[in-house]
Parts: sequence; structure tokens; C-alpha cells
Amino acid sequence: MKSIKKVVFPVAGLGTRFLPATKASPKEMLPIVDKPLIQYAAEEAMHSGINHLIFVIGRTKNAIINHFDSAPELENELFDKKKPALLKIIKQIIPKNVHCTFVRQENPLGLGHAISCAAEIIGSDDFAIILADDLIKAKTPTIKDMIKIRDKSCPNIIAIEEIEKTETDKYGIIEYSSKKKNLYKLSSIVEKPSPNKAKTNLAVVGRYLFSSDILDLITKTKPTVGGEIQITDAIGKMLSKSDIYGYKFKGQRFDCGSKLGYLKANVEYALDHKEVKKDFKKYLQNIKIN
Ligand code: G1P
Repeated sequence: MKSIKKVVFPVAGLGTRFLPATKASPKEMLPIVDKPLIQYAAEEAMHSGINHLIFVIGRTKNAIINHFDSAPELENELFDKKKPALLKIIKQIIPKNVHCTFVRQENPLGLGHAISCAAEIIGSDDFAIILADDLIKAKTPTIKDMIKIRDKSCPNIIAIEEIEKTETDKYGIIEYSSKKKNLYKLSSIVEKPSPNKAKTNLAVVGRYLFSSDILDLITKTKPTVGGEIQITDAIGKMLSKSDIYGYKFKGQRFDCGSKLGYLKANVEYALDHKEVKKDFKKYLQNIKIN
């Protein structure tokens, strides 16, 4: 099996759930404590051996390009002012051996369509997809765990999680034919079924590993839910040709596309942040909630 060196970050969405914050700033640049969401996603990929980051951006996402570019004025300023720790943080955002490519999704036609915008850059390579909204706090990066499993079994793996049955209309929902430990062999997948139609409460979260075959299947996929071209429908098509496994990942996921999930992530990451954790914990312990 070819090793996974490329990841796609679909970051063209308008982030309407966070307006007005996202009127002029990309939602992926919202910080969890002091680091933007998209940087957590990039770090997860880089810590998993991936060295080519492909961002599928929209018109309003230039801040993401700037974030992953070098910033000579800032670097000079931090150097002159003798702030080596900050300088190191800035310079480490993208190590020298990592390559970034930015492609435009001209129209917001859905997640499947966003992935297909990266088709030329992916070529015939196997690749990963990370949705930055789904932030996962875990001992080892989820994509790294998935890559390890993939090496032993099949090239197509998606991360899954049990959710409340009332929430099925927010996720891709899988059904499975067999299961071994935390690996579920998919038998079907449906995008955002209503709770009364959903066959299980096993939801897809934003981590995927695919062979490049998925790209061809996306081009054959018609718009469905929300009038968009869904990756879920392309995965459904793939099932008739290849095995796909759902991996019930270890760790805690925060839905940072929702206000509540975003706030929870900030609390959990702040309680782990060496600069603020002590005082923040004290603050939380004394907070009066009516
Ligand atoms: C997308 C996918 C969905 C998946 C979800 C995970 O939905 O279409 O299948 O379960 O991400 O976060 P979105 O959240 O973009 O509506």
C-alpha cells in the first residue's frame, strides 16, 4: 500500500453559525486558547507523517494562506525585541520539509465537490481528509492511528463515533455488516438521515483515508442533501467496489462548528495549557453559576 503523504483540508465553508465573528475572518482561524483551529488540524497531519498539506479555500480565506506563510516583518521584530520563544512558535507553524498547496473552490457546492477541487494535486496517491471543525483531543493523533490500521487492512477508513440518536440529521450515518474491536465494516452510509430513519447512531466524524478512486466517484455523484455534492454519496458508491471501515477513534471530539462545542474545547484545552491552566482552574472552581 502507498504511504499517506497528502492531506486535504476543505476550508471553503462560510461559517454562518459563527456570524458575526466569521463575517471577515475564516471560521478555521478561530482560536482554541491561542492557536487557530486549522493549525490543530495541520499539526495532527504533520504528527502523522504527512508532509503535503492541501487547503481547499474560498474567496474569504486569505488569512489561512497568510497563517501558513512566513512573516518576515514579524520574525524580524521578535528577533530584534529578543523574544526567541515567540519567534520559535511562529517559525514552527510549518517546518521546512512540509509543503502547502492552496486551491480554490469557486462555488460552495459541498464537501464532495471541495475534495474534487484537489484532484489534480492528489493525482493517484492515497490521501487523508481532515475537517478542522472536528477537533479531537487524543493521546495520539487520530489520523496517525488510522494510518496504522490502514497499513494492515484496507485503504479506505473513516472515523466514527456514537452520537445521540436525536442528532443523526447532522452527520453521515453508517451501518455495518461485521465488527472487530473498534473497526466496523461498512454496509451502508447515509448523509444526515432524520432520527426516525437512521439505522444506527454511528456517525462519521471529520477524518477520512481514501485511495484516489474516490475522486472519480465524486465526479459521478449528483447533488443531494442541501443541494450539495456529498462525500457520503461517493463513499456509498465506493462500497459496491471496495471495503470501507469505520474506526471508532480514541479521544474526545469537539464539534467546533457549533458554539457549544467550541466553548467546551476552549475550556478543555485551557485546562491543559501550561501558561493559564493553574489560574483558569482556580477561576472555574470559584465560579458561581445561577
Ligand atoms: C460533514 C459530512 C458528514 C460528517 C460531518 C462530520 O458534514 O458531510 O457526513 O458526518 O461532516 O463533522 P458537515 O458538518 O459539513 O455538515
